[in-house]
Amino acid sequence: MTKTLIRHAVTRDFQSLLEIDEASFPGGVAYDAAELAYFMNRHGAETIVAELDGTIMAFLIMEVHRTHRTATIVTLDVRETHRRTGLGSELLKRSEEILTDYGVEAYDLQVDVTNRGAINFYKKHGFTMVRTLRNYYANGNDAYLMVKEL
Ligand SMILES: CC(C)(COP(=O)(O)OP(=O)(O)OC[C@H]1O[C@@H](n2cnc3c(N)ncnc32)[C@H](O)[C@@H]1OP(=O)(O)O)[C@@H](O)C(=O)NCCC(=O)NCCS
Repeated sequence: MTKTLIRHAVTRDFQSLLEIDEASFPGGVAYDAAELAYFMNRHGAETIVAELDGTIMAFLIMEVHRTHRTATIVTLDVRETHRRTGLGSELLKRSEEILTDYGVEAYDLQVDVTNRGAINFYKKHGFTMVRTLRNYYANGNDAYLMVKEL
C-alpha cells in the first residue's frame, strides 16, 4: 500500500527538490541550485517534503518572519505526475499546523497571475488576493499577493 510521509527535508533531499522545482516552473523563474539553497537556508525558513514509498513527490518551503506573526510560502511544488492527488493540500495543511504552533497569525504568498491552477488551489484553501505586484517575476510576469489569516 502506498503511504505518504510528510517530514522535514534533510541535506540529501536537495537534488530531488531542485529537480522538482526545475520541472515545475519555466526557465528564469525556476530556482537554480544556488537560489534554492539560499531560500532553504534563510533565517526562519523551513522545508517540508511529501514522500511516497521513499520518493519525494512534492515539497514546500515556508519562511517565518522575524516578528513570528507572519510567514510566507516561498514555494510549493508537486511533481506533475502526482498533481491533483492531494499532496499539495497535505503539505499546506502541515505547514499551517507548524506555523500555528509558532503563533503565526497570517500566511502569505506570491503567485503568477497566469497560474490559474495554483490560484484556484490557494483560493480553495482560504487565501484571498490582496493586490497585484507588477513585474514581479524574472520573465516580467505580474504576481498576485495572497493572504490567509491562520
Ligand atoms: C498548485 C499545486 C501546488 C497544487 O498541488 P496539488 O497537489 O496538485 O493540489 P491538490 O491535489 O491538493 O488540489 C486540491 C484542490 O486545489 C484545486 N486545484 C489544484 N490544482 C488545480 C488546477 N490545476 N486547476 C484547478 N484547480 C486546482 C482543486 O480544487 C483541487 O481539488 P480537486 O482536485 O478535488 O478538484 C501544484 O499544481 C503544483 O505544484 N503546480 C506547479 C508549481 C506551482 O505552480 N506552485 C505554486 C506556486 S506559488
